[in-house]
Amino acid sequence: MTTAWTPDSWRHHEARQLPAYPDAAALAAVEAELKSYPPLVFAGEARDLTAQLADVAAGKAFLLQGGDCAESFADFHPNTIRDSFRVLLQMAVVLTFASKLPVVKVGRMAGQFAKPRSGDFEEQDGVSLPSYRGDNVNAIAFTAAARTPDPERMRTGYMQSAATLNLLRAFATGGYANLHQVHKWNLDFTGRSLWSEQYKALADRIGEALDFMAACGISPETVPQLKGTSFFTSHEALLLGYEQAMTRQDSLTGDWYDTSAHMLWIGDRTRFAGSAHVEFLRGVGNPLGLKCGPSLDPDDLLRLIDTLNPGNIPGRLTLITRFGHDKVEAALPRLIRAVVREGRSVIWSCDPMHGNTVKAASGHKTRPFERILAEVKGFFAATRGEGAHAGGIHLEMTGQDVTECTGGAIAISDDGLAARYETQCDPRLNASQSLEMAFLIAEALVAERQQARAAA
Ligand code: PEP
Ligand code: CO
Repeated sequence: MTTAWTPDSWRHHEARQLPAYPDAAALAAVEAELKSYPPLVFAGEARDLTAQLADVAAGKAFLLQGGDCAESFADFHPNTIRDSFRVLLQMAVVLTFASKLPVVKVGRMAGQFAKPRSGDFEEQDGVSLPSYRGDNVNAIAFTAAARTPDPERMRTGYMQSAATLNLLRAFATGGYANLHQVHKWNLDFTGRSLWSEQYKALADRIGEALDFMAACGISPETVPQLKGTSFFTSHEALLLGYEQAMTRQDSLTGDWYDTSAHMLWIGDRTRFAGSAHVEFLRGVGNPLGLKCGPSLDPDDLLRLIDTLNPGNIPGRLTLITRFGHDKVEAALPRLIRAVVREGRSVIWSCDPMHGNTVKAASGHKTRPFERILAEVKGFFAATRGEGAHAGGIHLEMTGQDVTECTGGAIAISDDGLAARYETQCDPRLNASQSLEMAFLIAEALVAERQQARAAA
């Protein structure tokens, strides 16, 4: 039996992956103050995202979700935000052009600061210290002081999220995302990318279409959609004290919303039965993500769907699958079959990153581009085979020219990883690899459309 939900009812459930703060009074003081800060997003925006995601669930739109594994206080810079936003826009253009579907853009940005870890402690040279859990918990340096969880960091995380979101909103609506800028989004260093030419050719075709439309009287002045775009934010709702403090009752509907981001997700390590994270998120009105990894069986998934989306609202729940290139085709079809059988409305989105992490000979954590692509292909095959829509893609990526994932058209080798390995946590696709991935996913979407047409 489910008991009543309140913003703090999660506190009576098993909470894994939360930091052990040494000073409970200091923690309570910061949480109380955060509670009085302005919300970062408005409930109506979260409802708008749910409505757009309902189109994704129905196969009438595609979800593109991406950004850093973990945002960092040290990397807080307008150019980093601009470059991630820009490459997401480029990818959306590529995907829209191929699929002829609107692309719903959601950043892993403006709040992605808390990380689940496989162990509570990290050992180096015989010294054991608390694991790094993301910049709003502790610092990455391997010293006792840096690794001690500090609640003040939540305040910095909030401020950085607010400033990041402000710039994203400005870019999305202030002219930067105007479709007439499509040529200018080509990044300087993707000029070296083999995919840059393809992008230019596509931008030329879009430019021609826009010129034609302008001649017919359809321009950014007459059709506002051409002037700007919608862009939403998301992160893993891991640090529950912070998320609770950001949760407010909407004055229009009386419903509760977590105003730290438009969309929140539950990680693969915190979706177990009885989880505090599941308890917390079931009560907020935001659209939700649920990571689905190899250990999830169909019955558990159906129970989670019952808990998180009892009203079967389309767009409410996105299942973000992350199996690994070698497991997806065996594991995913039975989950889809169970969900289809029960008539549950969900979005199937593919995270091809987290099941494909390997250790390179150089010692770096990396992800081979071919394996990422292989999981995407396996995901498309599984959804198609079970009569479901391949609804979206969830990537760890950056607009920067980093060297963290091997492979891609400008083949990064194991030896090349050290050159610009900058991630705070997991390896990300760089700008060129992200654009390349978008073109390859676009091919899969075109094939899907052709098959759907042939079947009709
Ligand atoms: C993540 O998205 O960064 C993450 C930790 O994923 P998962 O919960 O799927 O392991
Ligand atoms: Co990650």
